[in-house]
Amino acid sequence: MNQNRMPLFEKVLQHQQGKPISFHVPGHKNGSLYEESLHPIGEWDLTEITGLDDLHSPEEVILEAQQLLADLYRTRKSYFLVNGTTVGNLAMILASCHEGDYVLVQRNCHKSILNGLMLAKVRPIFLNPVIDEHLFIPAGVDLQAVIHAFNQYPMIKACIFTYPDYYGQTYELKKIIQLAHERNIPVLIDEAHGAHFQLGEPFPESALSLGADMVVQSAHKTLPALTMGSYLHINSDRINMEKVEFYLNILQSSSPSYPIMVSLDYARHYLAQLSNEDITYTIQERDKFLKEMGEIPGIAVKESNDPLKLIIHHDHLSGFELQAFFEKVNIFPELADPFHVLLVLPLLKADMTFPFREAVQRMNGLSWKTRQARNRINENILLQDDPFTTELSLTYQEMADWSKKWIGFDQAIGKVAANMLIPYPPGIPLFLPGEKITENHIIQLKRLLASGARFQGDTEKLEDEKIAVFS
Ligand SMILES: Cc1ncc(COP(=O)(O)O)c(C=O)c1O
Repeated sequence: MNQNRMPLFEKVLQHQQGKPISFHVPGHKNGSLYEESLHPIGEWDLTEITGLDDLHSPEEVILEAQQLLADLYRTRKSYFLVNGTTVGNLAMILASCHEGDYVLVQRNCHKSILNGLMLAKVRPIFLNPVIDEHLFIPAGVDLQAVIHAFNQYPMIKACIFTYPDYYGQTYELKKIIQLAHERNIPVLIDEAHGAHFQLGEPFPESALSLGADMVVQSAHKTLPALTMGSYLHINSDRINMEKVEFYLNILQSSSPSYPIMVSLDYARHYLAQLSNEDITYTIQERDKFLKEMGEIPGIAVKESNDPLKLIIHHDHLSGFELQAFFEKVNIFPELADPFHVLLVLPLLKADMTFPFREAVQRMNGLSWKTRQARNRINENILLQDDPFTTELSLTYQEMADWSKKWIGFDQAIGKVAANMLIPYPPGIPLFLPGEKITENHIIQLKRLLASGARFQGDTEKLEDEKIAVFS
């Protein structure tokens, strides 16, 4: 197929050039009801009028744009998503799993995966990730743990993994997929952070090229697509295409955003047009930036498997403090954790400039007043009672029927957690809704609190030393 084409983008542009008069939704009428600075947004925000096709039943330009996407990623079929990888993950799970199925899931997954498991009413077997001892973050899925899980639970019907993680770290996915396929088990991948892996070297291999059956990618995270623009790819006949489409139709808006869809067409084209020269330039600019930043006293730049991710550490500052320093000079990182900030770099074309030098100058201009002896958070490595897998004690149906109450930490031992609690570090849920709380959990919870770890999830009454359980 001709990857120079941008069928949807071109059609919308052609529509605009005809100076259209809108007697259709949306109510801003091609932006004319907006004040002038907002006009350009409105001009792109169209609807399913003649010639602009329909995402839910594509026959014209959207069909062609999606075919070009499938052609570039070499898939059986690919789809535009207008509600992010969130909706893709939900559709992926609902279409692939039946109620009561045993499903192997990486414990540190995105909440959309957990929500998908709940909606599909499956029986998740959570796989405990290994920890990267240098970065103090989960380091992905371990092959031995997968082998152990397949032996312990021969009835597993699907695997759901995240590849890469937020920091761009990858793992031995190819062997894991082979192992699953030997048992005819489909592997579903949340590749939210890897839409650009299609480029190949120097980027890690993509989940699709490693043989994953279905993959969802947030094009908006690393490609030039608008927020909420994602791709879903089907790559094998282990996946029921009609079921995926059935759920996408149910879960996505009946008024899909044209700006998002146009940007998805554009992002696919952008990726297809990137030359070796562009990629070399991107890497050279990144390497210079990395080197100059590394010369700032106290700063150390850790590399990830994905060259677009830089993990920045400061000798005397926590990640959160470092983020606050950067923000003082209007440099906004993607995220901070107790030890690092994460920067996500752009995929550049050779004729583009990005203000890397300006960023380093601003960083150099900061007066880095730091406490010499920082109260370091001790690096708690979470130990689950079973080193490989954990199961839920209640089904999702039972959880929906039971009520919650908050009780003291020690009283909670032996009860079933009603909410999730995720300590940072290391960003792996200590317990998930439906999991039995053990003495080990409570010992670790107290240790984590004492060491200054931060928490997400069931934090409402954490200061009062209470957690929610089902009763
Ligand atoms: C691993 C992972 N999966 C899924 C998502 C959800 O993606 P989206 O924002 O495209 O809905 C995120 C968002 O950060 C994520 O980090």
